[in-house]
Amino acid sequence: MQERIVQLRQQLQLAGHHYHVLDEPQIPDAEYDRLFRELQALEADHPQWITPDSPTQRVGAQPMMSFSSVAHKVPMLSIHTETDISAEGAIQFDNRVRKVLQLNAQDPPLSYVAELKFDGLAISLMYKDHILVQASTRGDGQSGEDVTHNIRTIGQIPLRLPQAAPANLEVRGEVYMRRDDFESLNERQRQRIAQGAKNEKTFVNPRNAAAGAVRQLDPKIAAQRPLSFFAYALHFHAQANADADADADADADAVLSPVQTTLNGLHTYGTHFQILMALKDWGFPVSEHCQLVTGAQGLIAYHQQIAQTRDQLPFDIDGVVYKVNQIRLQSELGMVSREPRWAVAHKYPAQEELTTVQAIEVQVGRTGKLTPVAKLAPVFVGGVTVTNATLHNEDEARRKDVRVGDTVIVRRAGDVIPEVVSVMLEKRLQDAQIFTMPTHCPVCNSLAVREEGEADYRCTGGLFCSAQRKQAILHFAHRRAVEVDDLGEKLVDQLVDAGLVNTLPDLYKLGFSHLAALDRMAEKSANNLLASLERSKHTTLPRFMFGLGIRHVGEATAKDLARHFGGIEAIMDASVDQLLMVNDVGPVVANSLRTFFDQPHNREVVQQLRACGVHWEESAPGARLDLPLAGHTYVITGTLPTLSREQAQALLEQAGAKVAGSVSKKTTGVIAGEAAGSKLDKAIALGVPVLDEATLWVLTRSV
Ligand code: IVH
Repeated sequence: MQERIVQLRQQLQLAGHHYHVLDEPQIPDAEYDRLFRELQALEADHPQWITPDSPTQRVGAQPMMSFSSVAHKVPMLSIHTETDISAEGAIQFDNRVRKVLQLNAQDPPLSYVAELKFDGLAISLMYKDHILVQASTRGDGQSGEDVTHNIRTIGQIPLRLPQAAPANLEVRGEVYMRRDDFESLNERQRQRIAQGAKNEKTFVNPRNAAAGAVRQLDPKIAAQRPLSFFAYALHFHAQANADADADADADADAVLSPVQTTLNGLHTYGTHFQILMALKDWGFPVSEHCQLVTGAQGLIAYHQQIAQTRDQLPFDIDGVVYKVNQIRLQSELGMVSREPRWAVAHKYPAQEELTTVQAIEVQVGRTGKLTPVAKLAPVFVGGVTVTNATLHNEDEARRKDVRVGDTVIVRRAGDVIPEVVSVMLEKRLQDAQIFTMPTHCPVCNSLAVREEGEADYRCTGGLFCSAQRKQAILHFAHRRAVEVDDLGEKLVDQLVDAGLVNTLPDLYKLGFSHLAALDRMAEKSANNLLASLERSKHTTLPRFMFGLGIRHVGEATAKDLARHFGGIEAIMDASVDQLLMVNDVGPVVANSLRTFFDQPHNREVVQQLRACGVHWEESAPGARLDLPLAGHTYVITGTLPTLSREQAQALLEQAGAKVAGSVSKKTTGVIAGEAAGSKLDKAIALGVPVLDEATLWVLTRSV
């Protein structure tokens, strides 16, 4: 029985290492669970055989009343932080080190280990006789808290070391939470809160969540928090077995630096890099981003390389750490004021900062989309000064419940637009008002609507809305629309701000004297712009239609519309049903067109543009009048005996008919098959002829 217990522990330990550290599961989860339950059952029957390194001991310890204090055998130091975030920081560190070591320019460059600076919390792990006996936090550096019960729950941390490792040692490293684990933890927390759970909260960031989990009094809760670990330091303590030999002389507890350590003559470590490799061999997770580099140039290259990959890492870092590789040189360098001289942290600009919300404004985009934006007290984050952060839309703004006056965490990672991560509720002012989306466009006062199934409110003002105008003008002038070269963003700003251009037709009313009066406008540029405007007047219907910037009407749709209707008047007057007959035009596009041309001011813009001389060649409508079913519209419904819906539609279209999606009085006929539904009912109600597949064949055969 005892043998089986030992065997199960070994199997589970190995499988756990493959799963948690190597990320290459060795056995299926179900098999792991089965072995685990077998071990649990055996241990329940024989509690005297439970050992602290048993995988079952990772969970299930009783809640604690408080943490006991642990004195660190070697102080847990902090690292000097190089404040200069440019490459200069690396050069300064290298210079300082070389100076203390009295190296001069002729001496070769030093070897360093460059590592990530993980954004979690430092933990010390004590192993005695190969078994994890104690884990503690850094605390004040001299003593920390005993968090063994929680640290045991972290699958990546070995509870027992392989025989090849020294029996007694201290490993230090960082406990952290991956970003994806953090997101799912917060999602779970949100659900719990929504279900009415008391005393639950969401976490501000992964670091905060990791710290909270490590300092949990109830290990069952800690076990549910997804923590990870990276090892980055090793200390030997010449304390072979203090428990067995309580009278050990004072020297037995003395700390040996790794360079002098010849534990049974077996282990000597000359360099920090060798230590990292040994830690990895013993089953500790060691980051693959640890690199051996040479001289200041090597440090700079590492700093830059990590800056570029930082956003792709699955966890947060706040910088990199450089360490002198030779342990002998580390001892020589020693420390100043609790910071080793042989290591330095080289930061990156923080990606998250605290600031306050001064106002919440609503901005209007080209298509009228209203975006709530938090106006922030300027804050330097992610390498730039941020004064705006998007709240995306109504639902997001409500979920985050950002209010004017709030203190918020702002995040800007990489080139991603800055966003408000969360509100510090404890700092909320008492009279802070809940933000609500306006019912009218803040710029033109047209009605703002949020359509069903959409996240955004939109201003219905169209080209009449001045905020949409600048964007609309740029769109009209686009290379693929009517193409006005030389009309860029800055110029449009100037023209609109000076009140020279309010609507698209105003572009064509610009004269030389208007332009010459603008700031920084040379005579030549003014003439160039006037010439481009003149050229743009001769255009095509698709370009013109696309240029109007109607929502959902892209280039392809503009072409389809032009081909189908032939002229602008027909498009402007087409009913939704008629629009639905156009290739690839569905209800969304059809309604968008209808809404646009139902606004008199939009029709007015079209007429004025034409009056200004914008022109194109119109053609006959796309429906070929010579075909037998030209001018007829059919609707297909239900399952036909032999033809698919697409085949039936193709036959009808080849014969010149239109196939529509809905039945109206204008529908020529409804082709109905098996299980036809509401369209058939409607046809009958409206007295529209109902035909079968056989009739369809007869109708179209004459082609
Ligand atoms: S080495 C003497 N390496 O940074 C050096 N620390 O300010 C002792 N940290 O509390 C630490 N990543 O939590 C080291 N690769 C890394 C690190 C790292 C993060 C943290 C650690 C410590 C703090 C020092």
